[in-house]
Amino acid sequence: MDFKLSEDQEFMRKAAREFAEGEIRPTVAERDEHKIWPTDIVQKMGKLGFMGVAIDEAYGGAGLDYISYAIMIEELSRVDASVGVIASVNNSLVCAGIEKFGTEEQKREILTPLASGQQLGAFSLSEPGAGSDAAAQKTRAVEDGDYYVITGTKNWVTNGSKANTILLMAMTAPEKGVKGISAFLVDTSEPGVSVLKVEDKLGIRSAQSAQMSYDELRVHKSRMLGQPGEGFKIAMTILNGGRIGIASQALGIAQGAYEAALEYAKVREQFGQSIINFQAVGFTLADMATRIKAARMLTYHAAWLKDQGENYIAAAAMAKVNASETAMWTATKAVQIFGSNGYSKEYPVERYFRDAKITEIYEGTSEIQRLVISREIAK
Ligand code: CAA
Ligand code: FAD
Repeated sequence: MDFKLSEDQEFMRKAAREFAEGEIRPTVAERDEHKIWPTDIVQKMGKLGFMGVAIDEAYGGAGLDYISYAIMIEELSRVDASVGVIASVNNSLVCAGIEKFGTEEQKREILTPLASGQQLGAFSLSEPGAGSDAAAQKTRAVEDGDYYVITGTKNWVTNGSKANTILLMAMTAPEKGVKGISAFLVDTSEPGVSVLKVEDKLGIRSAQSAQMSYDELRVHKSRMLGQPGEGFKIAMTILNGGRIGIASQALGIAQGAYEAALEYAKVREQFGQSIINFQAVGFTLADMATRIKAARMLTYHAAWLKDQGENYIAAAAMAKVNASETAMWTATKAVQIFGSNGYSKEYPVERYFRDAKITEIYEGTSEIQRLVISREIAK
């Protein structure tokens, strides 16, 4: 057993931290306040290889391992969880899905611009009536010669309003239920795709999640990912990897909130001394450090299992549920340590507090992670 990061992994931590401190931190509060999409940051991340970290270099990626990817999302989210999720969706939900399930042509033509950051991807499974019950898809894809004609409404499509390609799940054979769902690589410039609204959110406000409609959108059969009926299995397999990305995002949020609280507790004085000297504060910081370390171990271990080609379904769900609850707990306690200043937008912890909550909801709620874990351990 070796807990030492490799040279590549250490290099990724350094590169992502420098980028986050130098390019992301200066605008994080303003982008959050005014819901500003980070156009320049996304472009620069593409050039640095951050949009396809674990994707083969032959298809525009950086060719690194999944631990390096987890480290990058952690470092971005330590400063800005919005940037973290934009990168996470493109890397682990879209690029990784095309690399695993795509044809050679799809990899050359669709994956390469996405992984190299020239284009942006989104992943669209959720619908107004299909959230946790993701199989309850109402969006229809009807075969018509060499095409499928797609009609329906999808919601909460992160990156959707900015994406060039959306990996979209739709029903091709409703009578087959979960085995009647197929996956498509939708080109958003085609007629029939529209953004109905961009959500006004509690947190991750610099990222965008959109409600989108498909009105008789014609998608050529060459743009189906996998075979007809494989869409649900493909979506679930992709989400296993995606959940390690969200665990990493949560880890970054927790780390950022902890560091802010630690610094504040050292300098804030009450009753003639630094508040860190009060055991209630010092022990809270000790628990933060301990919980974050545990969450990091679970997250990197899940990424390591994936890199080894082993089953990581339960490990990814455990990492996600643990890291997201750690982020929520740590951010809540960080606000408490800041006292009234924790409630002010002049300090960063109220943003960590708002951003942390989403990690317990998307890519499967904490209840769904427990469902996944319980099913896996019962096998
Ligand atoms: N990995 C691989 N395959 C899986 C799987 C997993 N984690 N979970 C289910 N499957 C497979 C099953 O093996 C089964 O296939 P077979 O019959 O071939 O064995 C098939 O999928 C159907 O499985 P279930 O009968 O278990 O399906 P279910 O309807 O009971 O649902 C569920 C299972 C776990 C609840 C699933 O619906 C789920 O994960 N729900 C949460 C949805 C979710 O995570 N959405 C995220 C949207 S993307 C997002 O949120 C992005 C973002 O914010 C940035
Ligand atoms: P519901 O499924 O209605 O759940 C409501 C509550 O009931 C939850 O507490 C849930 O845990 C609980 N519950 C439901 N079923 C069970 C059960 N069987 N056992 C126990 N408890 C249960 N989706 C995408 O496809 N692509 C995206 O890019 C994307 N980005 C998102 C970004 C944001 C900011 C948000 C908020 C959501 C995003 N989503 C995306 C959707 C997200 O994945 C869903 O919101 C999530 O899966 C939960 O679905 P729901 O909101 O419909 O909640």
